[in-house]
Amino acid sequence: MNKKIISYWEGKSVLITGASSGLGRAVVEALAPYHINFCLLSRREEKLNSLAGKLSDGGSSFWVRKCDVRDRAQVLSAVKDYHASAGRIDAAWVNSGISGDTSFPRWDWDRVESIINTNLYGSLYTIRACLEVMLPQNSGTIIGIGSAASMRGLPTRGIYSLTKISLHYFIESLAAELPQIQFTMIHPGFVDTPINRKGNSRRIWLISAEKAADMMITAVARRKKIYIYPWRMKLLYRLARVIPTSIYAGIARKTVSWHRKKEE
Ligand SMILES: NC(=O)c1ccc[n+]([C@@H]2O[C@H](COP(=O)([O-])OP(=O)(O)OC[C@H]3O[C@@H](n4cnc5c(N)ncnc54)[C@H](OP(=O)(O)O)[C@@H]3O)[C@@H](O)[C@H]2O)c1
Repeated sequence: MNKKIISYWEGKSVLITGASSGLGRAVVEALAPYHINFCLLSRREEKLNSLAGKLSDGGSSFWVRKCDVRDRAQVLSAVKDYHASAGRIDAAWVNSGISGDTSFPRWDWDRVESIINTNLYGSLYTIRACLEVMLPQNSGTIIGIGSAASMRGLPTRGIYSLTKISLHYFIESLAAELPQIQFTMIHPGFVDTPINRKGNSRRIWLISAEKAADMMITAVARRKKIYIYPWRMKLLYRLARVIPTSIYAGIARKTVSWHRKKEE
């Protein structure tokens, strides 16, 4: 790893939601050599403890708390207690997220509310609580995890798309309001993690969680404002944002019916 990237992360206090699996876990593993004071949050505390145990000899320290990000009180108390223990919060990796089919025939209110409460409210609670610490410090980094699914309204994943583009807009507003804080919005393409492993034939340009973590920690250290990866997904994302709605709708409809047939 390049010296500038190491010096950006070295010794930082880093809070990460959804550290028990996939991208969150891979980010913790990638940052662990840099003497980080970690705060690991998620519902599956046993997974957080086993990750902390596995990495504990590598020079970083771990503060672990079971936390459901849909519950505002749990998030606020976790951030407050971690801050009391660490003395500061340098970076918040706002990563917890779930997905699900919310197409018209498969609509389920519990699923819809859970996606919104996890991806959107969970992110708002975490960002707000961390900013309460970072603003008096006059420094800090907020990393928002969106998705390539936010490029346009994605058929069958409408609620997931909605939460991710909402987070993007929220972070963009905050970045304009609070120049003393670094905001990096990341839109991953397909990464091989449990969120998309089941019955998903759409995983184009798939990369490993380890590679994704390296790319993301580098992008944050380079202070990117928006980071979309891998590069082919970035091109697709940019193109999809500018094509007219009528053309987009036709392509999206055909793609979905092709994938539905493949999955049946
Ligand atoms: N993998 C991809 O291809 C991809 C692409 C684009 C965006 N993303 C985004 O990347 C982020 C991480 O996803 P992943 O790929 O790593 O999937 P994952 O392996 O399924 O991990 C999701 C993480 O979110 C946590 N989480 C879910 N609900 C939670 C809740 N109510 N409270 C606290 N934590 C919760 C889970 O922890 P617990 O279950 O222990 O609570 C888990 O650690 C998500 O925001 C996802 O939308 C992923």
